[in-house]
Amino acid sequence: MDRDKLHRTLNDVRVPDYRYYQEIGSTNDAAINWISDNAPEYALVLADAQTDGRGRNGRRWVTTKGASIALSIILYPNADEQLQLGLFSLASGLAVSRAIESQVKSKVETKWPNDVLIDRHKTAGVLAEAVWQDTRLKGLVIGIGVNLLKEAVPPAEELLFPATCLAVHSHHAPDAITLIAAIISNLKRCREIMRHKEFHKQYTQKMAFLGEGIVLRETDTQSVSGILKGIDAEGRLLMQTDNDPLQAFPIGDISLRPQ
Ligand code: BTN
Repeated sequence: MDRDKLHRTLNDVRVPDYRYYQEIGSTNDAAINWISDNAPEYALVLADAQTDGRGRNGRRWVTTKGASIALSIILYPNADEQLQLGLFSLASGLAVSRAIESQVKSKVETKWPNDVLIDRHKTAGVLAEAVWQDTRLKGLVIGIGVNLLKEAVPPAEELLFPATCLAVHSHHAPDAITLIAAIISNLKRCREIMRHKEFHKQYTQKMAFLGEGIVLRETDTQSVSGILKGIDAEGRLLMQTDNDPLQAFPIGDISLRPQ
């Protein structure tokens, strides 16, 4: 990564401080530790490679040097935002999809709650982790992993959902630094509106599988299927099942698949 360009660009988008590693266990762990050391809001941890990257639902997340982005953003939700903490997950997913959209020519969508798909293949994921001291929220870490080049995409047999990378859908080589800056600017914008109707509208417009049949897998043995109807004001997924009225599913360890 071009360190001078990184420094200038992060300055332009008003990142107050950042820590850049060539290799680290997990940028989320470094960000969590930095919160205890008074990291400023929108401080960033970036790494070229992670040896212990993690994804949602306890899965592993591989970051390939030179072919991926791994970053974690530190936030301090205010009292109102803390009432709907789950919305940060959705806002981050929308922010990353908007940033990716500016670099590819194919259709970019958000798979609830926060996976980013290009042409229905996963290209980025978000892991939001809250840091608590007893019942007090100390901070929130938004961890983002993006596949830029083919080398970042794990082999098909290791995947639960088909995956891709930006390079396959772009006329140009993906620009990691510009993408990071776009993620930050978009996250600020999405955060501002995330508790308002406008966010609901924008998120729903970008939602993959809307109006289509989906399966929500709650555990390895338990799943529910129905038609995806959108999200409610809390960011919960709304699904129409055969016999029941509309059901709302909170953001948790639920994974969504097309039927
Ligand atoms: C998912 O789709 O399961 C979420 C993947 C999140 C991966 C990112 S990479 C940067 C940050 N550090 C981690 O250990 N995980 C997140």
